[in-house]
Parts: sequence; structure tokens; C-alpha cells
Amino acid sequence: MHDILPEDVGRWQFLEATTREWFARYGFGEIRTPVLEATDLFTRSVGASSDIVRKEMYTITRGAESVSLRPENTAPVVRSFVEHSRHRGVAAGYPERLFYIGPMFRYERPQKGRQRQFHQIGVEVLGGEEALIEAETIEMIWGLLHRLGIRTIELQLATVGDAECRPKYREALRQWLAPRAERMCEDCRRRAEENPLRVFDCKVEADQKLLADAPAMEASLCAACAGHIGEVKRLLGEFDVPYVENPRLVRGLDYYRRTVFEITASGLGAQNAILGGGRYDGLVGELGGPDLPGFGFAMGMERAAMLIPDATLPPKSIDVSLVALGADGHRAAIGLARRLRAEGFSIQMATQDRPMGAQVKRAARAGARFALFVGEGELASGRFGLKDLASGEQVDIDEAGLVSRIKKG
Ligand code: HAM
Repeated sequence: MHDILPEDVGRWQFLEATTREWFARYGFGEIRTPVLEATDLFTRSVGASSDIVRKEMYTITRGAESVSLRPENTAPVVRSFVEHSRHRGVAAGYPERLFYIGPMFRYERPQKGRQRQFHQIGVEVLGGEEALIEAETIEMIWGLLHRLGIRTIELQLATVGDAECRPKYREALRQWLAPRAERMCEDCRRRAEENPLRVFDCKVEADQKLLADAPAMEASLCAACAGHIGEVKRLLGEFDVPYVENPRLVRGLDYYRRTVFEITASGLGAQNAILGGGRYDGLVGELGGPDLPGFGFAMGMERAAMLIPDATLPPKSIDVSLVALGADGHRAAIGLARRLRAEGFSIQMATQDRPMGAQVKRAARAGARFALFVGEGELASGRFGLKDLASGEQVDIDEAGLVSRIKKG
């Protein structure tokens, strides 16, 4: 778990502000749900046999109640959607579009790129089955990454089938695994029995090699699923979003149906998925709501923040650092700072009379655009020395002129 310090928080704020502005263009509304949910919400949705539920949840038991810190936010958003009967606002062709920004918690083995408290920007579209939903939502996030200056990315796409063809594939895989499982790790032996599709989660190299020859989903796809993924691909082409097909794409959550995808980025090391998601038709019904389809994704904010190039970030925000000289200068500077703040500028000044050298150093360290000198001479003449700290150019200026000069930048 990490602190986000003031020096770094600018990246986070930029990421959040850009996201909010961009998602609003696509008609998404923000939703904020509690960080604690009933444990069985995740068992029923993410899956009892998933690593997330089996090994990674922070669970608190109080009396007969068991709650967990949310390891992800799709299930909580669907829970909220059902609880507030929001399907009433959904009509054919008009799904509900939601996004969220916030912390998630997973008890991960400590490693680069994985935190135990991490943050996600996520999106859920509830109540639409059209392939356009995938295409438009993926186009939106693709566009957001470009606006953030994150360019070396790759979209990986696959389908996991639906309630009709997925069980057939699961059975085919189970049969294929049966004679091989004993050569695999202990986890895989268990998975082969409990939930064969989870074997693709395995990180053991020997098992990975063996699985390279396992049957692929495509061969078992039903006509409806094949048609759906075909339409998603066609629309992505129309939206100019390039993708690669990755039939081995592994998602760590059980609720997916049909389309799944990830966007990977170079520069992240082994944990290279900046975001992942997919369709989860059936989940709303399973969590007590009407039988409505869903689709969404979540992006890891630590990973996204790290990839934003410095050049994309807005400049630092201190406008003026006041350099007050002598006790009289300091007193006068206090009033001047108040008046300039009232004009909307951000002002830094020392809380006590400090040597000039120390104040000038602080001005540079704060990344202030200007240093403003307030000393005896300035007080007598009513004109101040205003130094542009980037160019080094200094002008002598009265208070009225000061405001327009700082405004000009
Ligand atoms: P997920 O693939 O588990 O999906 O997580 C999405 C993203 O969160 C990952 O691609 C990664 O960037 C980030 N992430 C996950 N775990 C960690 C961690 N321990 N440390 C840092 N970053 C992490 C979900 O959570 C689904 N709820 C996404 C979704 C929404 N599917 C449909 N709707």
C-alpha cells in the first residue's frame, strides 16, 4: 500500500480530470459505492474458485456478518444497480452508463506493479447487448489513453463464449486435462476438477508449456457468439481502433461472457495490463436483478499515472512567490498576498521574515512562475520588482500593473 505524496498527486489529478471530462462526452455518470461489501457478493460474482476470492480478499467478520474490502467494483456497481431498481431507467437502445474512480484491495504477493491497495477507473454499461457497446466503450478508453499521452499500447481481444457454448468448451477442456493434470501443479490439479478454465491463470512455466496445446475456445463457439465477436471486430475496424486477437487471454474473474479484452502497455514490466474488462451478460440476473446484459472494464490508476509523459502534464500551479525584505516588507507582503489571492492567483510566502537568499531559493523550488520583491524601496515607491523565473527577466511595476502582468503569464 502506498502513499501518494503532493509531488506525485498532480499526475493523479490530471488523470482524474481528463477522465471525467472525456467520459462525460460519452454520457457516463459517476457512481460511488462503499469500499466494504458483503463477502458473498464477490463469491457469487467474481467466483468462489478464483484466486481473487480464494486468496486475496481482506475479510472482516463481526458476529454473524462477513464483509470484505472490495477487490473490484463490477459486482458492487451491479449490486447497487439492482438495489436501486435502476433497470427502470433502461430502455432498449438506452443502457445505463456508469463510471467510478476509487481504491480496491487485494492481498497480493508483494511485487513490482501490484499493490494491495490500488486504484481503478472503471466503467460499467448495463442493459445493452449490441456489439456497438463494446466498440464504442473501447473507442472511448482508447481515446482517453491517447489524450493522456499514453501511446505504446496494444488492445488484445477474445471471446469466452456464452451459457450455451462455454459449458461445452469447459467439458472439452476438462476431458483434455484429465489425463494430464497429474503432471501439473497442485493448484492446476484442483482447477482441472473445480473450474478447468482457471488453469490458464497458472504462472508455472512447465504448465504453461503443456497448456499451449490445449483446445481453444473458438472451436466450441456457438453461431450467436461467433457472430457477436465478428461484429465487435468489424466495428472496431470502423472506429479505427487496432486490435490483436489473443485466444489465450486470461481474465481472473468468473463473470465474463462473450467479449473479453485487455490493453497492455510497454514500460510496465511483467504486469503490463493497464486495463481489462469484458461482457458479463447474466450477472445482473444472478445478483437478483432482471436478466440484463452488462459490459465494462477497469484501468489500474497506478499503472496509468506512471505512463503519463511529463510533457502531457499541466504546469505547476504556484503563480507568485513573494520575497519580502525586512519586517516592514513582510508586513506589507501579507496584505499584498491577500489581495493577489482575491484576484485568483496562487501565492506562496514565508510565515516570518527570512533572509532574501532563502526566499529566492524557495521560490525556485516551488516552481513559481514569478518572484515578487517587497522591500522598503518598493513600499516607498509603490512599484515592485517582478521577476519571471523562467526567463530571468525583471520588470518594475505598480500593483495595478502587477495583476495584468501575472495574468498574461
Ligand atoms: P482486473 O483485470 O482484475 O479487472 O483489474 C483491472 C486492472 O486493474 C488491471 O488491468 C490492472 O491495471 C489493475 N490492477 C488489478 N490488480 C492490481 C494490483 N494488485 N495492483 C495494481 N493494479 C492492479 C477488474 O477488476 C474488473 N472489475 C474489470 C471489469 C469491469 N470488468 C468488467 N467491468
